[in-house]
Amino acid sequence: MTTPPSIPHSVLLAVAERTALAAGRLIREGFGQEVVVKESTQHDIKIELDSLTQRLIEKMLLDAFPGHAILGEEGGEGTTGQRYEWIVDPIDGTVNFSYGIPHFCVSIACRDRGETVAGLVFDPMREEMFAAMKGQGAFLNGKKISASSRSDMSEMILSLGFSKSGETVKKCLELYQYYGPRSRKLRAMGAAALDLAYIAAGRIDAYIEQGIKIWDVAAGNLILEEAGGKVVLTPLKDKHHYHIVASNGRLEFPLT
Ligand code: IPD
Ligand code: CA
Repeated sequence: MTTPPSIPHSVLLAVAERTALAAGRLIREGFGQEVVVKESTQHDIKIELDSLTQRLIEKMLLDAFPGHAILGEEGGEGTTGQRYEWIVDPIDGTVNFSYGIPHFCVSIACRDRGETVAGLVFDPMREEMFAAMKGQGAFLNGKKISASSRSDMSEMILSLGFSKSGETVKKCLELYQYYGPRSRKLRAMGAAALDLAYIAAGRIDAYIEQGIKIWDVAAGNLILEEAGGKVVLTPLKDKHHYHIVASNGRLEFPLT
């Protein structure tokens, strides 16, 4: 089989941006309206707007790039031999959205033969577009950003994700106990992609979560690495599931 021709990363990112802006408009319009819950468990909610937004994103990406693969929280099979694969989280921070907390985002990344080459995280409430292309740095609304230089744990803000199972919630509490007295502040903000983007922008210093899906973090990881930060992803038993330790690259974590 012949390899399809390369697409410039700037073209991939431009389409992703157009798509994220449209998805962001849809989500913003829905914010504060009645939420249609499709599925709920103790620590998670899935809503109708997740699926609608995923469909909009898929349509826009596939109209621009027919034949590309899409892997997403709300469906999409992912790569089946295609060179390019999009990794999409239509609403990261669904529980925040559903409860009326304006902290959530759209996350879109593109992989070329398994390597993430373009990614963006868009916060539609603050109109903040975090974006990166491989080897080109990271940007917030077009302005270059970099991770903080804090190297002393006593000065860091660490965000901890509780994940979605009773087991990970309990394990995460051990991290609170350990890092609480040793850090400046701990946070649990409820949108993994924004945690990564915030480290990239130097707003916080680190983020740990003991069970995260690839669509939560694919775009944020590239943005953070391009901003000088570091991401350690350790695969877990389930498909697309990882343990993540992300930081400005200057901090050590004895417990994760
Ligand atoms: C969740 C959020 C949350 C994180 C969970 C994710 P969702 O994504 O990113 O911060 O703790 O692990 O699954 O369900 O809101 O898209
Ligand atoms: Ca998510």
